[in-house]
Amino acid sequence: MDVNTPGWLSEVVASHILSIPPYVPGKPVEELERELGVERAVKMASNENPLGPSPRALAAVQQHLRASHVYPESSAPRLRTALAERYGLSPDSVILGNGSDEIMQFAAHVFIRPGDEAVMGANAFSMYRIVVEAFGGIPVQVPLKRHASDLKAMAGAVTERTRIVFLAVPNSPTGTIVSRAEFEGFLGSLPRKGLLLVVDEAYREYVRDPDCPIGLDYLNHEVPVLVLRTFSKAYGLAGMRVGYGMAREWIVELLNRVRPPFNVNSLAQTAALAALDDEEHVRRTLTAAREGMEYLVGELKGLGFEVIPSEANFVAFCMNRDARPVYEALLREGVIVRHLGSFGMPECIRVTIGTHSENERFVHALKRVVPCTA
Ligand SMILES: Cc1ncc(COP(=O)(O)O)c(C=O)c1O
Repeated sequence: MDVNTPGWLSEVVASHILSIPPYVPGKPVEELERELGVERAVKMASNENPLGPSPRALAAVQQHLRASHVYPESSAPRLRTALAERYGLSPDSVILGNGSDEIMQFAAHVFIRPGDEAVMGANAFSMYRIVVEAFGGIPVQVPLKRHASDLKAMAGAVTERTRIVFLAVPNSPTGTIVSRAEFEGFLGSLPRKGLLLVVDEAYREYVRDPDCPIGLDYLNHEVPVLVLRTFSKAYGLAGMRVGYGMAREWIVELLNRVRPPFNVNSLAQTAALAALDDEEHVRRTLTAAREGMEYLVGELKGLGFEVIPSEANFVAFCMNRDARPVYEALLREGVIVRHLGSFGMPECIRVTIGTHSENERFVHALKRVVPCTA
């Protein structure tokens, strides 16, 4: 904490807030350029869309700018209706968030009371832990098995105090999935009442394995399910901050009680609505991700790294030593990737699939730095 932090803070701020370690984001390009004096740095660290935003979204936002003096519609009915139509749901089964992160926060706000537990994979997306701790809950982290969510162990970690189970499919930061049979076995073993299963599908659009479960197929299961998706990845709108949740109406109604009005701004609503219809941009995005993945996996394997099989727009690779020196040497080459030390996987690095030239730049830099860091 800052040296100027007043000493009386611990008397007035709950200890579960003071003990939350802050979220560690991917390093911004500007910060690297400033710190190391490198030019034309590339960021392949936050699983953003390397093709940029949907052109339709850009055009729609430009049009809408003139109306930005007006508050947005609080519950974003047009966007909710469009999403509901796409997935065959009622608009009241859809909630929007300032990123899907915000909907995780709503879920923890509603379901976690001090001392309650939330089960999640160890090394999982760190917002799960942060939102649970923010409401005084206890994150119960279950180690991955061969880099994938260990559903049997997660079910075994559920107790009478468990109020939320977080499951990311594909998982972040590994990109691994679970099979439909595993998922159904897992659902079948969870208690029918008392908890919410959050299926985080931030990377669902990238999945190609037909055996990967689709959370939406289980919205009517006896176990209450909340599916989270986002416009940050395949739709290229990470900076706009729009995510959405889909669940039975009573769950959405509860989450809405803690949702601030106007939580998704009007430009973001406009952009997301246009991006949803921009099938061409999504198609180009998925093709670039597939081609980039093939190229990177081939190169990484060729260099002798263990490559974790990924169904997302990123891939993690591991070495039999701490990967931090490789990560730092890549920074000096102007390539920002993610060292997975803060995810409990210090031997691994995660790289977001970039454009072809970004992927090549990363591979060339890696080939240069690996011999010097061994
Ligand atoms: C697994 C996972 N879930 C959710 C998110 C957050 O998405 P959003 O930008 O919609 O908040 C991310 C972002 O990196 C992620 O990796």
